[in-house]
Amino acid sequence: MRDMFPLSVKGAQTSRRGKTLVGPVDLELEGTGTCVVVGPNGAGKTTLLRLLHGAARLNSGTIEWACPTEEAHHEQVFVFQRPVMLRRSVEENLIYPLRMRGMSKSDARAKAQDWAKRVGLQDMLRRPAPVLSGGEQQKLALARALIVQPKLVFLDEPCASLDGRAMREIEEVLQEARASGTRLIMSTHDMGQARRLADSVVFMFKGRVHEHSPAQKFFSSPDTPQASAFLRGDIVE
Ligand SMILES: Nc1ncnc2c1ncn2[C@@H]1O[C@H](COP(=O)(O)OP(=O)(O)O)[C@@H](O)[C@H]1O
Ligand SMILES: [Mg+2]
Repeated sequence: MRDMFPLSVKGAQTSRRGKTLVGPVDLELEGTGTCVVVGPNGAGKTTLLRLLHGAARLNSGTIEWACPTEEAHHEQVFVFQRPVMLRRSVEENLIYPLRMRGMSKSDARAKAQDWAKRVGLQDMLRRPAPVLSGGEQQKLALARALIVQPKLVFLDEPCASLDGRAMREIEEVLQEARASGTRLIMSTHDMGQARRLADSVVFMFKGRVHEHSPAQKFFSSPDTPQASAFLRGDIVE
C-alpha cells in the first residue's frame, strides 16, 4: 500500500453548538517517530487527536493523508484515555480485532498469547478484562491496538492516573512500537513523559497549535511565551 504520510492539515476546525473547540489548525506531520501533544487542560489535545483520526467532525478546512483517507483510516487505531473493554477475557479482547480483520482462530490465539506476554499479561489470559486494574487495562488496550500492526497509533493520555511501574511498562511497549516503525501521536500532561518519548512536540493552547517543533528545540527554546510559561510549570490561561 501507499505511504499515508505526510499528513497535511490546513485550516482544520471543529466546533460544537457554535463554539470552536479546536482550530483553525495548520499542521504537517511526517511519518516517523513519536509526536507528543502537550498543553494545559482544555487546550484541545484530545479534540485534536480525534479530529486527525476522523472521530471528530471537521467543520472547515482539510485533513489530507498521502493516500486515500479510507486507506489511512484502516492503518490507524486510537487508544482512549479510559479504554473500553469487551466484557470478556483478556485473550478474547486480543483475538477480537484480529478476527475482525479475517485472521484464523488459531493464528489469532497464538498472536494474542504473544502480545499478552509482551505487555506482561500472560498470566491473566482467562481473566475478564473488566476486573483488571487500571494499569493492566491500559496495557491490554495498548496490546489490542498494536496487535493489528497499525502504521499509526493515536494515544490520548495513555498513562493518566497510572503508577510509576505501569507507566514504565507502557512506555517500554511504546518505545518498542516506535523502534519497529509505528508512528505514534500521543497527548500527555506529564512533561517527564513528553521528554522521554517525544521526537517532536505539538503545543496546544486555547484550541490552536501554537508550536510544532523537534522535541529538543521545544524543550530548550520554545517559540512562544505561553509554551515557556507552560514548561516552567506556571499557570497558563
Ligand atoms: N463533547 C464536547 N462537547 C462540548 N465541548 C467539548 C467537548 N469535548 C471537549 N469540549 C471542549 O473543547 C475544549 C477542548 O477540550 P479537550 O480537547 O478535551 O482538551 P484537552 O484534551 O487538552 O484537555 C474544551 O474547552 C472542552 O471543554
Ligand atoms: Mg484530553
